[in-house]
Amino acid sequence: MLIRIIFNVGGAMKVKEFIQTLLGMRGFQPEQTTWEEQYKNNQWNHLHQLDELAHYNVIRGYINFFKPNADILDVGCGEGVLNRELSSSDYNYYKGIDFSDTAIENARSKREDEKTFFEQADAHAYQPDRKYDCIVFCESLNCINNPEKLVERLKEYLKPNGIVIISLFKQLWIDKIMWNKVQTSFEIIDKTTVKNGKGSAWQCKVLRPINNS
Ligand SMILES: C[S@@+](CC[C@H](N)C(=O)[O-])C[C@H]1O[C@@H](n2cnc3c(N)ncnc32)[C@H](O)[C@@H]1O
Repeated sequence: MLIRIIFNVGGAMKVKEFIQTLLGMRGFQPEQTTWEEQYKNNQWNHLHQLDELAHYNVIRGYINFFKPNADILDVGCGEGVLNRELSSSDYNYYKGIDFSDTAIENARSKREDEKTFFEQADAHAYQPDRKYDCIVFCESLNCINNPEKLVERLKEYLKPNGIVIISLFKQLWIDKIMWNKVQTSFEIIDKTTVKNGKGSAWQCKVLRPINNS
């Protein structure tokens, strides 16, 4: 697990930032250009592999259970791996946004239709043009600067009774710090931890903003 953190983080960060990440003071937050380079070099191809299948399908299950036929915003969607795990009948409208042009192009090449859209955008600057039943942060919050501010801002784009689904890779104590930061103004509706055959684990939570019914 530590190797995965170092592999993902070490190449893109200065020592000071790396230590801050380990202390939970900041996430793994490379520049947009670094994401471009990494996607061009296929460094995130492992997200498409069998080892990663379980947490995407927990998210799919949550969407179908809590919000069938949802309008979904997938923040930091990368190459659209979650979208590929969804059947088109699982949602009414899907928008995936990501920092990386390369990731967005790859996502579009797999599926883009009258209800499935991908857009290059910085999540912090992004202004949704509609409200959503479900906003997903799948393995993205720990990569985004100031995640708590982002979650607080985007929750205003939930429809009444809308939900936020977050998946975070479990890594030492870091994910716990992240959870504490981002879930403060939410009620936890459900949570699931999945572990693959190699011992990597993810926690997925369904959150509903307090006072959003
Ligand atoms: C670990 S990848 C996960 C990608 C995708 N959610 C998945 O599960 O396949 C994290 C993603 O967050 C995106 N990201 C990081 N900072 C971002 C920002 N400020 N705005 C939009 N996307 C961002 C990166 O480009 C990257 O695709």
